Amino acid sequence: GRDARLAGRHIIVTAGPTHEPIDPVRYIANRSSGKQGYAIAGALAARGARVTLVSGPVTLPTPPGVDRVDVETARQMASEVGRALPADAAVMVAAVADWRVEPAAGKIKKRPDGKPPTLGLSENPDILAELSRDPRRPALVVGFAAETENVVDNAVAKRTRKGSDWIVANDVSGDVMGGAENRVHLVTADGVEDWPQGSKLAVAERLAERIADALGAIQ
Ligand code: C5P
Repeated sequence: GRDARLAGRHIIVTAGPTHEPIDPVRYIANRSSGKQGYAIAGALAARGARVTLVSGPVTLPTPPGVDRVDVETARQMASEVGRALPADAAVMVAAVADWRVEPAAGKIKKRPDGKPPTLGLSENPDILAELSRDPRRPALVVGFAAETENVVDNAVAKRTRKGSDWIVANDVSGDVMGGAENRVHLVTADGVEDWPQGSKLAVAERLAERIADALGAIQ
């Protein structure tokens, strides 16, 4: 139910993949379903927070009470996160593409000589790292880390590198991407908590509870 510690609090959540266009009909994407981010947005809204969900292309319904802003590319996601500020917390769950292509104006054609086209890649903005260093930084910034090996060590290093308060590390060595279950570790300045394996909804409930604790302690 409603939680007084979240009443009047604004929380930004990013979710889903990004699509990076190659030409008018093609794009680079990844297998993120958006389920974990949508579950977190829904759990926070159900507890009474004002939630802005900046979402890449997914096929999920908007959770009740959530303000959803749809984007396609990483750069659009970065700009909508900026537009949504100020916020008390941000939870960056999106699987943002690391690279983009300078898209061709027209559909790229096969060449008569059989030579494939070369895609020049540029690095996308790191939305989490930039937000963590922004003068308008929310009091609580939470990142995610999908890892297949050295899950906790990589997440501890990522917390420092990104400048976030917390990193939720998930072990994606199984079939987590698109699946319903998740196994996560919460990395904070105080250490590492191993959470039991559970549904993405259960992980969302537990994280929403922790965010309420943290924001309740901040005036
Ligand atoms: O570096 P890595 O992609 O593993 O970091 C994952 C975390 O950083 C997630 O919270 C993701 O939403 C965020 N991220 C981002 N912008 C990027 C890349 C990752 O916000 N360009």
